[in-house]
Amino acid sequence: MKVLTLLASPRPKGISASIAQRFTDTAAALGADIDTISLDRLTFRGCRGCYACKGKSQRCILLDELTPVLAAVEAADILVLATPVYFGDVTAPMKAFLDRCYAFLAPTYMSGGPRGRFSGKKLVFISTQGHPDPEFFGDIFPRVSGFLEWMGFDEARLVRTCGVGPGRSEAAPEEVLAAAELAARELLQTQA
Ligand SMILES: Cc1cc2nc3c(=O)[nH]c(=O)nc-3n(C[C@H](O)[C@H](O)[C@H](O)COP(=O)(O)O)c2cc1C
Repeated sequence: MKVLTLLASPRPKGISASIAQRFTDTAAALGADIDTISLDRLTFRGCRGCYACKGKSQRCILLDELTPVLAAVEAADILVLATPVYFGDVTAPMKAFLDRCYAFLAPTYMSGGPRGRFSGKKLVFISTQGHPDPEFFGDIFPRVSGFLEWMGFDEARLVRTCGVGPGRSEAAPEEVLAAAELAARELLQTQA
């Protein structure tokens, strides 16, 4: 079982990273193959809108430090996306990554045909925010997971904490870490 985690906070020891760590530690203990990448440390561009991926290659023609990450996404069984909320949305590196995933949509999607190569994958979306009220920014997970499920992911889970970050609580609450651990146990056991 391959678990690929993409961290999208510029803070390598931040709260979203700590929640992801609990998930991957649990998954590793259950025998999963773990790969964790900090998007903030990579140099890559967002989608150029060239539509080359909708031609023969069906691949993104940009060659940069996201290229191997996209290949790892294809190989992963479980994709963990961990992002703080910035200005009411995912962070810029996460948005650029998601835009590059447009390359995974088969050209036939435009005419209502098959959409992509994501079938059977599972998403774990980890989200942290400064605002303490979960009513704020609750739209992010359904938007992102909706796209990925539309592209073939067959399950999406949210692990979220609110009211955290510099100037607030600097650690993930234990119940949120426990939720990440439970998600790993349930997903790994489902796939065993
Ligand atoms: C540029 C910037 C924008 C932010 N925008 C929001 C926001 O719109 N809503 C919110 O609740 N918190 C916002 N925050 C607070 C972060 O979401 C919070 O610090 C974060 O959850 C910390 O996660 P990390 O420790 O994984 O980096 C913002 C923080 C920064 C630095």
